[in-house]
Amino acid sequence: MTNLVPTISRVSIVGAGLMGAGIAQSIAAAPALIERGVRVTLVDVTQDRLNNGKSIIAKSLARVAKKQFKDDQPKQTEYIDKIVGSISFSFDAHAAAADSDLVVEAIVENLDAKQKLFRDLDTRAPKATIFASNTSSLPISEIAKSTLSRRDRFAGLHFFNPVPQMKLVEIVRTQELSDPVFLALKQFVENMQKVPVSCKDTPGFIVNRLLVPYMLEAIRLVERGDATKEDVDIAMKLGAGYPMGPFELADYVGLDTTKFISDGWYKSGRGLQGKELVEPPASLKKLVEEGKFGRKNGGGFYDYK
Ligand code: CAA
Ligand code: NAD
Repeated sequence: MTNLVPTISRVSIVGAGLMGAGIAQSIAAAPALIERGVRVTLVDVTQDRLNNGKSIIAKSLARVAKKQFKDDQPKQTEYIDKIVGSISFSFDAHAAAADSDLVVEAIVENLDAKQKLFRDLDTRAPKATIFASNTSSLPISEIAKSTLSRRDRFAGLHFFNPVPQMKLVEIVRTQELSDPVFLALKQFVENMQKVPVSCKDTPGFIVNRLLVPYMLEAIRLVERGDATKEDVDIAMKLGAGYPMGPFELADYVGLDTTKFISDGWYKSGRGLQGKELVEPPASLKKLVEEGKFGRKNGGGFYDYK
């Protein structure tokens, strides 16, 4: 590895769900990246999932366009079409990785699935390609183990939901990540008009280490009958100044994702004091078993139909 900071001009995002779509959009819409000719490809496994990603992007861009171009409908449409049109949509993760300087993974929060994907892409991507995971809770070093000789080019790149609106990106440094690759990712994030922070590869990094136990404790508080979920949400918004209460936020993040995080930490106990803080609460388990994943499919703690 040289000390030159690698250039990132072709990016693939794997997983066109809530997060992958938001990441692709934020890259495609960033003026500094457009100026540098950065290209982005969004990958998923079925046409339905790609359509879902495209629709998330179009809806989000419509909000941005409405603010930017006020009542000028043709300008709004032109802006949305231009950005959506600049993103390539593909089922072929191999071809996308083979033509990328950076691959960002945003698939389901499952270690085996992420390792399988990266093991596969490692054989297809050029040697210099940087791999990054948007995992909320899994150890980056464990995911990176699935690659053969890419540990110095493997990082956590953790975005926040809704990606187009949230300014923060956590860049997670394993012990093996090289300085030039870290700098390349930092510059890339800054060119996305986001603010990078750096953190070690510990459970939940910075934000989720604090946020997830808080959401789970709110659920337990209601399960104990201490208050209603509505009152807890009002309390945290008006009493602590949070934009959403913990139940609204859990629905927003996705109850499936919240449970994946909670299950994983509870089972592994890795690096956590107080395992009971992250034990999946009964009502969260029940909702997920019923297929109620929150806002993304119309219902969770609240109804969104
Ligand atoms: N795309 C683009 N812009 C969006 C957007 C989207 N999907 N969603 C909201 N916005 C913009 C709106 O256009 C609006 O912009 P202006 O202020 O410039 O007008 C702004 O966000 C506020 O939106 P609204 O007025 O519609 O609604 P709101 O005030 O209730 O804000 C919210 C919505 C931004 C989602 C806000 O409620 C919020 O910040 N909630 C907390 C989100 C949060 O904590 N996210 C982190 C979750 S944890 C995580 O992501 C990590 C993990 O690993 C699980
Ligand atoms: P999601 O369920 O909305 O989307 C996941 C997408 O990945 C789906 O479209 C699915 O079809 C696709 N996928 C699954 N396996 C695939 C594969 N092998 N190849 C290509 N595509 C595949 O999930 P999400 O909420 O976008 O979360 C994605 C990742 O981002 C997770 O690791 C999650 O923990 C993390 N994350 C989530 C949030 C959040 O608030 N939801 C915030 C930050 C990070």
